[in-house]
Amino acid sequence: SEPIRLGIAGLGTVGIGVVKIVQKHADLLAARAGRKVVITAISARNRAKNRDADLSAYEWADDPVDLARRDDVDVVVELIGGDSGPAKALVEAALANGKHVVTANKALLAHHGQALAEAAEEAGLSLRFEAAVAGGIPVIKALTEGLSGNVMRRVSGVMNGTCNYILTRMESAGLPYEVVFDEADKLGFLEADPNLDVGGIDAAHKLTLLAAIAFGTRPNFDAVMIEGIERISIDDIRHAADLGLRIKLLGVAQMTGRGLEQSMTPCLVPVDSPLGQLMGGTNMVVLEGDSVGQIVLRGAGAGEGPTASAVMGDVMDIARGLRLPVFGQPAKQLIDAPAGRTTAA
Ligand code: HSE
Repeated sequence: SEPIRLGIAGLGTVGIGVVKIVQKHADLLAARAGRKVVITAISARNRAKNRDADLSAYEWADDPVDLARRDDVDVVVELIGGDSGPAKALVEAALANGKHVVTANKALLAHHGQALAEAAEEAGLSLRFEAAVAGGIPVIKALTEGLSGNVMRRVSGVMNGTCNYILTRMESAGLPYEVVFDEADKLGFLEADPNLDVGGIDAAHKLTLLAAIAFGTRPNFDAVMIEGIERISIDDIRHAADLGLRIKLLGVAQMTGRGLEQSMTPCLVPVDSPLGQLMGGTNMVVLEGDSVGQIVLRGAGAGEGPTASAVMGDVMDIARGLRLPVFGQPAKQLIDAPAGRTTAA
């Protein structure tokens, strides 16, 4: 059968990770998909930049939107990021031109996911974003596929590795927030706008997407109660430890009689709980369904390999012909849940 042809926009850490997987696992991917998985075209801001992969076989597009117009692209892989500008233009153009889309863009989907999902479904196309939530952890596939026979009770977890790194390091090294923030910056952990990380916004984007899938609601980022970690002091962390507790930037989404409660706030968790044991730049998502009970997923929420792994899982589903609704049920059927009173868990 015909190969599936990818056009990749954005050749940062994740984009290069995807290129490497396609190159090194070509036979495995072809065997599993029943067709070859190939890259035909690429685009990035800076063509001259030295990158850790051989890109010479791919067509270059100066303007990423050109990927959406090419006849030799079946799937646009959007790894530019940002909730507006070129990423949004590319995804919209791809769906308008009959291309499937795989993206890691949590901000774009948290803000525009409803409209994009409707566009994709009306056109009979896939729009997939496993890499947008908790990096390498296949939490969206868990919810939309493995757990699709459950009424979900609650979705919660630590969804920003940078914040978890900062809080963990403050505790283990006894260093103040500002010092550890600078360390995280030097290690390259922070988003271009660090407020997305430490202000809890990046994690709230992810929670918004999980809540929509878990509860069949329209993604509603504006209804998330958000508080970042900027004001957590070393004293707060010590006092918590004295009580056998740890502070985590914890996201919680649950449906109550009043509506959908969504919060992303610093919370106290028992040191000996799974969340309390989560140290460093790792993510953990806790899923609770009426039949399955509680499931804990833990893994790398960022980085080249883990995030590219999630992107490739989506590419493989599309290559195999799997067409799932974007948020697990048709976008037009998603309900507008009232925002329930939100309290920190
Ligand atoms: N800044 C994010 C994090 C990257 O630290 O988790 C992955 O979305």
